[in-house]
Amino acid sequence: MILVTGATGLVGTHLLVKLIQQKQHIRALYRSDAKKKQARKVFSYYFNAEESTLFDTIDWVKADLEDIPTLTEAFDQVDYVYHCAAWITFNPRYTQKIRKINIEGTANIVNLCLLHAIKKLCYVSSIATLEHDLIQPCIDETAEWNPETLKSIYAISKYGAEMEVWRGTQEGLKAVIVNPGIIIGPGFFDNGSGYLFRKINKGLRYYTQGITGYVAIEDVVDIMQQLMIGSHHQERYILVGENLSYKKVFSMIAKALDKPSPSREASSFLLKSVWYLQWIGYLLFGIKRSIFRSTIHNAKTISVYNNEKIKNELAYTFTPIEKAIQKTATYFLNQ
Ligand SMILES: NC(=O)c1ccc[n+]([C@@H]2O[C@H](COP(=O)([O-])OP(=O)(O)OC[C@H]3O[C@@H](n4cnc5c(N)ncnc54)[C@H](OP(=O)(O)O)[C@@H]3O)[C@@H](O)[C@H]2O)c1
Repeated sequence: MILVTGATGLVGTHLLVKLIQQKQHIRALYRSDAKKKQARKVFSYYFNAEESTLFDTIDWVKADLEDIPTLTEAFDQVDYVYHCAAWITFNPRYTQKIRKINIEGTANIVNLCLLHAIKKLCYVSSIATLEHDLIQPCIDETAEWNPETLKSIYAISKYGAEMEVWRGTQEGLKAVIVNPGIIIGPGFFDNGSGYLFRKINKGLRYYTQGITGYVAIEDVVDIMQQLMIGSHHQERYILVGENLSYKKVFSMIAKALDKPSPSREASSFLLKSVWYLQWIGYLLFGIKRSIFRSTIHNAKTISVYNNEKIKNELAYTFTPIEKAIQKTATYFLNQ
């Protein structure tokens, strides 16, 4: 039996599809029926109406990462665990909450993996935990965590979660960590990269300087599954198909949606002004903020990731990002 946490998210749902296609016996964690319904919708992208009943073959268990008694029951008869659940936010207001979900939640999963002698854990981290240094401008799996530089609370929480996984390996757990770049895939257009499709479709005019890594959802779940069944363990892998500028990606999305490309560069001054105005709005009226110091920093940073390790170990060829964008745009326009 395979356990998937975060099964109602972008990675989790596409992973369920992959595992179901291989006729695996799956238990999936969810928190609300509304999100489960959204996951079922992703199944409809891959299966016809008759095959969609495959969704009901999954053993769905309602559990939060902090709910240890229910999690303990969910581990019954489980051999392999994919830990995809996490809370993604950059708002420093939620520092304590994100630490609890992402770090303590991962510690709970690791402890239960040890208790139930799980054969292997695959943990989904992020490129947010990796950064370049002066010696190595291109980031690879050996990159060291530098506590001195500006970090988002999300990056800090994912790093803390990685530490829990490595601690588990010291206590005898077999584990792999994947560090995906920004994941492009259909089904979730209210957050993550999916939200960009919505914004650009509405007429986003600005782009920012900066480069980061991108990867297609199919590649993420395919590689996770190959790492799980292979002999790989106690290793991390960067999952980045291409390093691209925000400008390039925004214009690829605009092209796929048949909209004008964002043509104005959002200068540091503009971003900082918006940040300041949002901050005042939050202090005076409690208005929700969307721009933070860390997001401005990331939007301007040039981060280039090296994907040679996974390419060599699995002889893997990544999907071109433009292709992943076109596919995602098709689902966005047909929703
Ligand atoms: N999307 C990206 O571009 C990207 C890039 C790099 C790494 N990652 C990592 O990939 C993993 C999956 O991301 P995603 O894009 O699939 O995110 P997502 O769509 O936001 O899904 C997150 C999943 O985690 C679940 N979750 C959140 N808090 C939980 C809690 N307290 N207890 C139990 N489950 C909880 C969510 O449940 P609900 O549906 O009920 O909210 C959802 O199923 C995360 O670890 C993320 O850090 C994502």
